[in-house]
Amino acid sequence: MDNQANNPIKRIGVLTSGGDAPGMNAAIRAVVRACTYYGIQVYGIKRGYRGLLDGDMFEMNARSVSDIIYRGGTILQTARCHTFRSHEGIVKGKKMAEVFQLDALVVIGGDGSFKGALEIAREGLPVIGIPGTIDNDIGCTDYTIGFDTAMNTVRDAIDKIKDTASSHERCSFVEVMGRNAGYIAMNCAIAGGAEVCLIPEKPYNIDVDVVKKIIDCRNRGKHHYVVIVAEGVGGTMLLAEEVKNITGIETTATILGHIQRGGSPTVKDRVVAGMMGVKAVQCLKNGEVNKIIAYKGDKCVAIDIEEALAVQKQLDPDIILASEILNV
Ligand code: F6P
Repeated sequence: MDNQANNPIKRIGVLTSGGDAPGMNAAIRAVVRACTYYGIQVYGIKRGYRGLLDGDMFEMNARSVSDIIYRGGTILQTARCHTFRSHEGIVKGKKMAEVFQLDALVVIGGDGSFKGALEIAREGLPVIGIPGTIDNDIGCTDYTIGFDTAMNTVRDAIDKIKDTASSHERCSFVEVMGRNAGYIAMNCAIAGGAEVCLIPEKPYNIDVDVVKKIIDCRNRGKHHYVVIVAEGVGGTMLLAEEVKNITGIETTATILGHIQRGGSPTVKDRVVAGMMGVKAVQCLKNGEVNKIIAYKGDKCVAIDIEEALAVQKQLDPDIILASEILNV
């Protein structure tokens, strides 16, 4: 254990916020264990910013995070807190941190949660953000905790849907999560061998991009087809109906929904969560605050939170092209 006599950060709070993601527990565990290692006290805050406003928090130690690494969800629970979007809410959050003598806050969540973190940092409470969302849509980082587990859940679902689509010679439409981004959709279309993938980043034409492709596949001898639709595109039910009407091929539509957010985290999500959690606490120990921990080329780096939030993420054109080539 490090001697932290000179570190102004003696006690921190950790919370999970926004949509939960598999691996959040592994991140909480890493933060708590790293705090123990570096001699920093840590409070677990319940239900994200909601719990901060309510002062709903408790002291954690290395034992509080035993046996959680393999569990999906978040033991701290989470919420989308509207009050925290107002200046009044931010000031109240800062005040409650003072009441509990928290010197800094670690926020595990997505973009929306980091906006709240930036606002509270501006009020003077140091923060560190750890990217946790199945969407992988945070600009400053190559990877967000939960993405790999969610993709494996989707891949498993596609494999199963394919079995029945092939038995009945159907065209299966599968809608996957991702908010306004197509990361889950595009990667899972490749991994699941889908015939078509529709993502919000690329507008589509039903005749050219869906119907013609399916008919081409049929003319090449295929009898079952999978179309992945990102939720940011939406309209999956209607699309399936329309394609049935135009082609005469029987279609089904499955919205995978929240199954994608659950489950035991994969090795990748556990390892990245572990590395990010440790890096977050190392930053606090070194007085490096108001950062987002980003995963870049297999390493964790700390990026200034304002800069981090300004980065726009673009789906790699190479993966879009690869998916089109592989669909043929
Ligand atoms: O950000 C994660 C996510 O699962 C998105 O993919 C989805 O759009 C959203 O959260 C759903 O949120 P909720 O669980 O609040 O309906």
